[in-house]
Amino acid sequence: MADLPNGSCCSLNPLELFEQVTAQGEKVRSLKAEKASKDEIDAAVKLLLSLKLSYKTATGQDYKAGSPPADFTPLSNGPGNAEEDDFVDPWTVQTSNAKGVDYDKLIVRFGSSKIDKDLINRIERVTGHKPHHFLRRGIFFSHRDMNQILDAYENKKPFYLYTGRGPSSEAMHVGHLVPFIFTKWLQEVFNVPLVIQLTDDEKYLWKDLSVEKAYQYAIENVKDIIACGFDVNKTFIFSDLHYLGTSPEFYKNIVKIQKHVTFNQVKGIFGFSDSDCIGKISFPAIQAAPSFSTSFPQIFNSKHDIQCLIPCAIDQDPYFRMTRDVAPRIGFPKPALLHSVFFPALQGAQTKMSASDPNSSIFLTDTPKQIKTKINKHAFSGGKDTIEEHRKYGGNCDVDVSYMYLTFFLEDDDKLEQIKQAYSSGALLTGELKKTLIETLQPLIAAHQQRRKQITSEEVKQFMTPRKLAFDY
Ligand code: TYM
Repeated sequence: MADLPNGSCCSLNPLELFEQVTAQGEKVRSLKAEKASKDEIDAAVKLLLSLKLSYKTATGQDYKAGSPPADFTPLSNGPGNAEEDDFVDPWTVQTSNAKGVDYDKLIVRFGSSKIDKDLINRIERVTGHKPHHFLRRGIFFSHRDMNQILDAYENKKPFYLYTGRGPSSEAMHVGHLVPFIFTKWLQEVFNVPLVIQLTDDEKYLWKDLSVEKAYQYAIENVKDIIACGFDVNKTFIFSDLHYLGTSPEFYKNIVKIQKHVTFNQVKGIFGFSDSDCIGKISFPAIQAAPSFSTSFPQIFNSKHDIQCLIPCAIDQDPYFRMTRDVAPRIGFPKPALLHSVFFPALQGAQTKMSASDPNSSIFLTDTPKQIKTKINKHAFSGGKDTIEEHRKYGGNCDVDVSYMYLTFFLEDDDKLEQIKQAYSSGALLTGELKKTLIETLQPLIAAHQQRRKQITSEEVKQFMTPRKLAFDY
């Protein structure tokens, strides 16, 4: 089959196929109008017919111009063997494999693209910056349409960054830092506006929290986010519980999204059931809306075509699969995405860390002593049972949580490689590896706490005030 604009048709859902057929139909018409060569027209018609066939296979119906599929295949976790496959959605990250989720399989199931060497090289070429170690080490491993963003950047076309946090508790864990650290790097490298959504409404709907408590957690979390070093002139942070009531344009986008997604679709994507409250069922539209620039008229001067790039861990992708489906139907560009793997729980890569289990992770509020005790007591080891065996056979970095944590937070590539060699050969013992991790995390968390302590409520207010940022549109 001839090349499709967005890759293989087989990974497209019926709605995307519908859009491809429509676009190809227009292409055929304009080629004919321009009196293009017969070969060119024939090739375009051939592609159109094969797209129509794919559409019929996917929906069981003939393509009808102007009638998008009323109900397309749910953008669920995709087909898979429940026993073998990992499960990943915004609330559950489950795998039976001690090495963690099989991310290569997940890319195929979610229909995203791998961040490969070529893309990393292009990012380096286009920005002139050495790629962040999260990129070099495959921690950000998957993307959607990142090449479009790089094209835009090269052509001096604007784009913006969007990320977020669901404030389920006062204390964030180190895993939550991953997308924010990376977003800060992206903001510096590309010099673009950033919007950060605090979904306190989501946490009110899902958790046993009052509205007031959820908002209070949002404000506490904002301090941790600001402490990551964002530039106040280029960053707008907002709580849904507050911003929604002040921004008609944001609300208009939410309603537009709500009109274009059926209950069936959100059931398929998020697994909602008939007994879930209606707040949950309509919430995905609220997380989708910041992907569209008209939600922030004060920043983007009401421009509707500024694309956004969303860095997040892959658990948030279901929200944005839905967003990307809706976007063209309501006249907006699809958001691009960069997905990270999960920072594992101390007990091993089989689970997602939980704010309700203090021993499952290192929190940004932990003291140096707590960090030391937690790592020594709870960090799952890939070492052998006895020193003799360890010296003889070596440790397994693939399952060792201390080593995994170092891949996130030890920036020195050479030192990390030395540790890997020494641990795998048995020269380095588990206690020594843990000590390196403790000595890496203690100063990092202490410095974060120091920066956070200095953040005033005036500063929080500045970040959270809807306003123009340091960019003209
Ligand atoms: P939340 O609060 O669960 O997570 C905040 C961000 O951290 C990522 N994350 C992790 N990254 C690496 N390792 C982990 N163990 C880990 N746990 C969480 C999440 O993917 C997320 O990027 N509904 C969202 C809030 C939100 C949002 C967004 C997130 C609203 N808009 C746009 C990303 C992008 C939530 O509850 O995130």
